[in-house]
Amino acid sequence: YGGPYTYLSVSEPRPGVGQVTLSRPKALNALCTPLIKELNTALRHLDRAPQIGSIVLTGSAKAFAAGADIKEMAPLTFSEAYTTSFIESWSELVTAIKKPILAAVSGYALGGGCELALMCDLIYCTSTATFGQPEIKLGTVPGAGGSQRLTRAVGKSKAMELILTGKFFSGEEAERWGVAARTFESHEKLMEGTLETAQTIAGYSRVAVMAAKEVVNKSQDLALRDGVEYERRVFHSLFGSEDQKIGMKAFAEKQKPEWAHK
Ligand code: HXC
Repeated sequence: YGGPYTYLSVSEPRPGVGQVTLSRPKALNALCTPLIKELNTALRHLDRAPQIGSIVLTGSAKAFAAGADIKEMAPLTFSEAYTTSFIESWSELVTAIKKPILAAVSGYALGGGCELALMCDLIYCTSTATFGQPEIKLGTVPGAGGSQRLTRAVGKSKAMELILTGKFFSGEEAERWGVAARTFESHEKLMEGTLETAQTIAGYSRVAVMAAKEVVNKSQDLALRDGVEYERRVFHSLFGSEDQKIGMKAFAEKQKPEWAHK
């Protein structure tokens, strides 16, 4: 999968499921530029691998990621940040991947770490996970989409409170507010639950799964009327896929579908 890697590992813990585990333990998985580069490479390889149907992105029990690397950012000037489009490659990273990415969050998901989780297609976490956008305490603001994605997830008033105070919120709150889809009581149970969902997804038709991810994500970008029309176009186009014929025929014949993934 494009390795060897220094700051992460890539595995296939269940058939069809690719897992990327961030591993920079000395810095609580702070997201330095070389780590982001590796993450980009790993995700692109998994996205292209025909046997992989879904992707899990995780860290350690202690930290998903404690943010962008503050020590790397500290000396940057405006000109350097602007001319090198600092952080721009982050949003391509997860959003350009067509297969669903499930974030499994234990421990810290702060600043850029919270934003990375929010870029994923769904978040599972431990109830004691620690989320937050503490950039205000560093004299700055979220830079990898946090002000936009967190606001869409929790609404304006709560997002303002979180971003203006920098206060942390727990995994349990994340679930209650709709940031996370589900919570688990330990890191082990989180990984098991995440892999189970990822395996279920990987067992479906690739083309249908990718299309489903695409249409749900469009709802974040488009007005309702445009989004509904976009969905209908994609729905129509799937009448041209082999898997849609296989799925519907199998239902009518009371058989289990054998996907062609075409
Ligand atoms: C660089 C970091 C880091 C970070 C932790 N470390 N977070 N290094 N960037 N974001 C390093 C520490 O410097 C330390 O290294 C080691 O990891 C362990 O951290 P400690 O602070 O000693 O651990 P602890 O006391 O348990 O506190 C954990 C913590 C704290 C609460 C998570 O580390 C913390 O507040 N981190 C910063 C969180 C943050 O502000 N994130 C947002 C960053 S801004 P040494 O060498 O001393 O052992 C951001 C902007 C995004 O993300 C904009 C675009 C992406």
